[in-house]
Amino acid sequence: MQHELILILDFGSQYTQLIARRVREQGVYCEIAPFHLALEKITAKNPKGVILSGGPNSVYETDAPQLSKDFYTQINAPILGICYGMQLLAKDLRGAVSPSDKREYGHAKLKRLSGKTELFKDLPEILDVWMSHGDHVTSLPEGFHQTATTGDVVTAIENKEKRIYAVQFHPEVSHTPLGKEILRNFLFEICACKGDWTSKQFIAEEVEKVRAIVGENDNVVCGLSGGVDSTVAAVLVQEAVGMRQTCIFVNNGLLRAGEFEETLKLYQEKLHLNVVGVDASADFYTVLKDVVDPELKRKAIGAKFIDVFDAEANKIGGVKWLVQGTLYPDVIESVSLHGASVTIKSHHNVGGLPEKMNLKLIEPLRELFKDEVRLIGKDLGIPPEILERHPFPGPGLAVRILGDITPEKVELLQKCDRIFIEELHNFEIYNDVWQAFAVLLPVQSVGVMGDFRTYEKTVALRAVTSTDGMTADWARLPFDFLQKVSSRITSEIRGVNRVVYDITSKPPGTIEWE
Ligand code: XMP
Repeated sequence: MQHELILILDFGSQYTQLIARRVREQGVYCEIAPFHLALEKITAKNPKGVILSGGPNSVYETDAPQLSKDFYTQINAPILGICYGMQLLAKDLRGAVSPSDKREYGHAKLKRLSGKTELFKDLPEILDVWMSHGDHVTSLPEGFHQTATTGDVVTAIENKEKRIYAVQFHPEVSHTPLGKEILRNFLFEICACKGDWTSKQFIAEEVEKVRAIVGENDNVVCGLSGGVDSTVAAVLVQEAVGMRQTCIFVNNGLLRAGEFEETLKLYQEKLHLNVVGVDASADFYTVLKDVVDPELKRKAIGAKFIDVFDAEANKIGGVKWLVQGTLYPDVIESVSLHGASVTIKSHHNVGGLPEKMNLKLIEPLRELFKDEVRLIGKDLGIPPEILERHPFPGPGLAVRILGDITPEKVELLQKCDRIFIEELHNFEIYNDVWQAFAVLLPVQSVGVMGDFRTYEKTVALRAVTSTDGMTADWARLPFDFLQKVSSRITSEIRGVNRVVYDITSKPPGTIEWE
């Protein structure tokens, strides 16, 4: 089925993905494309509306991102320009844009001007909005009129006849409390969308798609990690091809305490997945012996995983397809304004797997954001203990033990980590953080226990809030909670006499310590 589509053209704003999420939350499917997508390709998508995102440039800069000159006449759909998008369309349609004396950044009060506009339908006369811009529109293009102001800045303009609308502020961020209503007005009042994007429908269509591409005699393999994405992908594909899918769940010896056994049981007994559990811990410890460098750890684990997975898949026979839980943020061709991005950490643990095994990919979640995957998972009957689980890195505890990895250190860290997570549940704050875990430091320090001097290991606790893991803030966990975790770890775990809490945000830190 062809869904209604809103196309978001990305000019490099940090908020572009947020625009997409806000649109999809209203039940309207949307895609993000780079601003330079060829005009024929844009029109071929037959969008119900086009949103021009914000961006860091100034429209008169020589290298500023531009649209094709025929854009405005060829698009047969309403257009909404946001921030840079507004300045660009104002310039392109022969209005004028000027740099402000200073950058306006933060909260502002928008005042609507007299006259009816569908964009602000049913909204109050004064709105709190979030601004972040240097330039602003100083002269309106012909045929446009101003619909809102913030002090002396032109904050919203429109040309109803041409169906072009623009706002200087960011309706997509939570600091614009009624921004959602503004976007809703654009989608439903102006673009006449109906909202045909629901999770139940997505499941039904995706199941059909998978059935249509997988041949009757083809077998399918899926690597399970215990996390949300691979589980949802596996359950969805099982709906389509049943037992022709074999899931492989590898214990690399670097999972949380008890996780391999508990998750395997859940896969088998609650989700009735066709799953093989492979305990390869010893093999992983062997390849990790004496490896200290974080990237070398990742590479060793990735390579071993491919070996183990390949050997297991070869036992099945007739395997043509590999299921992967790739999400939309991984596939968006985003605009990099700073050239090719540098590798800070290689997160693609199993890159090269499909090539090595000569398999074709099934990626049923590649159009979805994480929160949408959770909704789909809920509709597929996946229990909350999987859907609400914190993200966990492929290389697992190996990147949380600084220095070399030994089974003893893994066990020590698992015990400390278990206390931390248990207490987060006890205090009912597990779901308030994006991720929480313990890190074993290669640091010993002096302590005192009873009448004795101790000289033992240090554990760091890390808990962050985030929406996508790209940026994060350290979680302001209650002191009585931290006190409880610290005293439990130092009294219950032999070998640890000091607990510290990490108060670094990302950037400049990263979430994991390695
Ligand atoms: P960083 O440490 O880069 O982490 O701030 C951001 C998010 O990614 C996870 N992470 C990984 N996930 N393989 C993964 O599958 C990896 O090698 C890896 N390294 C970090 C991390 O847990 C956080 O959620």
